[in-house]
Amino acid sequence: MSFLRVVIEWFTKAHFPTGAPGRGYPDLADEVAKHLDVQVTPQTTYDFANGEIFVRSQESVRGSDVFLIQSCAEPLNKMIMETLLMIDGLKRASAKRITVVLPYYPYSRQDKKHRGREPISARLVADLFKTAGAHRLMAVDLHTDQIQGFFDGPVDHLLAQPLLADYVAAKYDVADLVVVSPDSGRVRTAEKWAQRLGGSPVAFIHKTRDPNRPNQVVANRVVGEVAGHTCVLVDDMIDTGGTISKAATRLFEAGAQDVVIAATHAVLSPPAAERLSECGASEVVLTNTLPIALERTFATLTVLSIAPLLARAIHEVFEDGSVTSLFEEMSSASHET
Ligand code: R5P
Repeated sequence: MSFLRVVIEWFTKAHFPTGAPGRGYPDLADEVAKHLDVQVTPQTTYDFANGEIFVRSQESVRGSDVFLIQSCAEPLNKMIMETLLMIDGLKRASAKRITVVLPYYPYSRQDKKHRGREPISARLVADLFKTAGAHRLMAVDLHTDQIQGFFDGPVDHLLAQPLLADYVAAKYDVADLVVVSPDSGRVRTAEKWAQRLGGSPVAFIHKTRDPNRPNQVVANRVVGEVAGHTCVLVDDMIDTGGTISKAATRLFEAGAQDVVIAATHAVLSPPAAERLSECGASEVVLTNTLPIALERTFATLTVLSIAPLLARAIHEVFEDGSVTSLFEEMSSASHET
């Protein structure tokens, strides 16, 4: 467990920023630190026999601009608790500002009540971070944009789409691509992909879900023309791979020539690896917002690093620059409706 202390020359402000990675994915925090040309400094973290967590920075953070990088991977609930304790420790140690960097925002799928007596879990998570002492949040590809409003403070919503779309555009014939949303809720995202790819056609899968059983979906049919084309299936996350593999099957049944899957968050709960390697897609392109264990990888998997984007955004926040400028091209395109 380590704590990141920034000692870089070009950070000329009176207070050095500090990066503090949680145990969720320290390698990603290290990668971000390298891009910022900063050093990681140690932190003590351990679990008591009964599961309680202890955290303590080994160096002073007084007056620091802290970026606490925590990928909430499994065990997800424990990582949330660890993050809350770290925020509390930083607050009580007189950090000047605490930005919680969540490459993957936990519970983001539970952002509304589908039926009575359900919690709005994504809202509760935001409240917990706020109560612990976080001043701002930074996250990549929130499940829905409105989650930004759940946190009472600034939220930097970063987009992995330029990274993923530019990779696809460089490798595949864009004139032959159809962008496909795996459900009707993500059609707007597919449209943004299409704009970035220069005006590709868009299709979507009519999907239904059993509200009483998690990760159970039915991909009913393809809406749009995909026969003879290479389909880019886009989603925010792949958990068990049920949604995306069933969508790929429907696309091949509808005559697709090839399917390329692109998604941001590689949750990859079993049996995702089997489903993704057997669904016929020639490539599955994901980012490393979450750690991917070796046993969850497969031959057609490509992982793009999100670290340069996180580093650029952290730099903009620290320098009071513009995070929006990182996505200027996209935001102007998204207003052309
Ligand atoms: C659903 O709304 C999400 O965007 C993903 O499509 C879904 O959560 C992925 O879950 P799974 O891979 O288990 O189908």
